[in-house]
Amino acid sequence: MNIKWENIAADFGNDFLKQNFMGPNSIMIMAELAESLDLHPGMKVLDLGCGKGLTSFYLAKYFNVTVFATDLWIPATENLKRINQLGLEDKVFPIHAEARTLPYANDFFDLAVSVDAYHYFGTDEYYLNNYLAPLVKAGGQIAIAVPGVTADFDKNGPSETLKKYCVSGEFQTFKSNAWWNRLWLRSETVEDIKSFDLKCHKTAWDEWLYSGSKIGTGDIPFIEADTDNQLAVVAVVAKKK
Ligand SMILES: C[S@@+](CC[C@H](N)C(=O)[O-])C[C@H]1O[C@@H](n2cnc3c(N)ncnc32)[C@H](O)[C@@H]1O
Repeated sequence: MNIKWENIAADFGNDFLKQNFMGPNSIMIMAELAESLDLHPGMKVLDLGCGKGLTSFYLAKYFNVTVFATDLWIPATENLKRINQLGLEDKVFPIHAEARTLPYANDFFDLAVSVDAYHYFGTDEYYLNNYLAPLVKAGGQIAIAVPGVTADFDKNGPSETLKKYCVSGEFQTFKSNAWWNRLWLRSETVEDIKSFDLKCHKTAWDEWLYSGSKIGTGDIPFIEADTDNQLAVVAVVAKKK
């Protein structure tokens, strides 16, 4: 399904979206990720690290799936207010949980998605096999999109302009799509792994940088320092074995 961004923005309202961004425009990212997914009405979807819920609202509204909107930093009660505001209370269920203590049965979800969150908890060898994949049915889908880099750095590292922003712990979790592919290839629990950079990288970041959020404004120097186009929004999609 290809819904124009202008229509999505009009449906939710620009102010609502801007108030609920927590990083690069998550609906744009989810919409592009969805092009690689098989989505059917009634599917049970885990939206892990959903933040203020935008990706969950998008999936429920346009694909008529049931979403368990799961997050750590944002209280479930706050997300419920937004769910009610949008009239999605039969489709989106807010859950407060940590990614390693998820309160779900094994083999429950048809799809697990995670936008701009998985790099906080999923860069080690064990996360996918031990914590996320078990919750997804055999043949189900797992899809993430995270901030990353276009290629693994060689010995020279990031460009001179970008270098000074690359010392933060968070930046150490920015990996290339090839890096994620290698990590997931070592997993016993998924197959048919595809990894790629999203086309919406620049637009999705711009939406956040100029949204009026103080944190977004604070990210402008970092993104502007990427004069060599080394940053990317990286996606990985796989099938649960
Ligand atoms: C940058 S925000 C992005 C939120 C949302 N997905 C979006 O794109 O707007 C990162 C999210 O990851 C979630 N997160 C980080 N570490 C987590 C963990 N250990 N368990 C569950 N969620 C986590 C946070 O609660 C936060 O809402």
